[in-house]
Amino acid sequence: MKGVILAGGTGTRLFPLTKVTNKHLLPVGKEPMIFNPIRQLISAGITDILVVTGKDHMGEIVRLLGSGSDFNCNFTFRVQEKAAGIADALALGRGFANGEKIVVILGDNILTHSIRKYVDIFKEQPSGAKVLLKRVGDPERFGVAALDEHNKMIMQIEEKPENPKSDYAVIGVYMYDPQVFEVINSITAAARGELEITSVNNWYVEHGTMTYDIVEGDWMDAGTFESLMVANQMLFSIDNTIKKGDG
Ligand code: G1P
Repeated sequence: MKGVILAGGTGTRLFPLTKVTNKHLLPVGKEPMIFNPIRQLISAGITDILVVTGKDHMGEIVRLLGSGSDFNCNFTFRVQEKAAGIADALALGRGFANGEKIVVILGDNILTHSIRKYVDIFKEQPSGAKVLLKRVGDPERFGVAALDEHNKMIMQIEEKPENPKSDYAVIGVYMYDPQVFEVINSITAAARGELEITSVNNWYVEHGTMTYDIVEGDWMDAGTFESLMVANQMLFSIDNTIKKGDG
């Protein structure tokens, strides 16, 4: 399996912090934000990692990350020409994935516990996709999953719904079979004019091949001032390490 970290976007919700630098380079605890998703993938045994970002900050990202030798992994870099959504950025990973399953992490998603056990389960899943969920107090900020908990199935995912059908946020860690690139080609831009990852995920839901797990430990999307502050405290208190988890 290979890993993809999506680190593009304009970071407008964090202006002026992101006026001259990329959101994923801002400090979280004692390290730049993007180190947490990198450490997550490595903790799951994934060492071939594609990093996608825009042209404004690719230079700084490469300067920070280099070849991957500091992390004992291999980085590949691709430029997203315009901030046109998560699914548009992921489409750039087709050649890199080269027919293998992938784990995708949004560069601003911070987790305290390793995703290894969920990745191991997905390795055994014959086809389809898996999303990870977390119960939150403000589901309207996220993709929200309506669940049939009895059958452990997702019924539908809604992107930032006004009236959320549950308090389970779909976090920015997604696992896909190689078919995902065909799925991306088949979807159209949603309300905010971007190719939404939620549309991709709903394709798998509708085809009955989407599974889910609920993540252990703390999760934060560090894309707003408030959540960045919480993420900072979360990682500072554990010295930016990733806990093994109970799996
Ligand atoms: C994105 C996804 C959303 C998901 C969130 C997790 O939102 O569209 O479904 O819950 O990441 O961080 P965005 O950060 O682009 O608003």
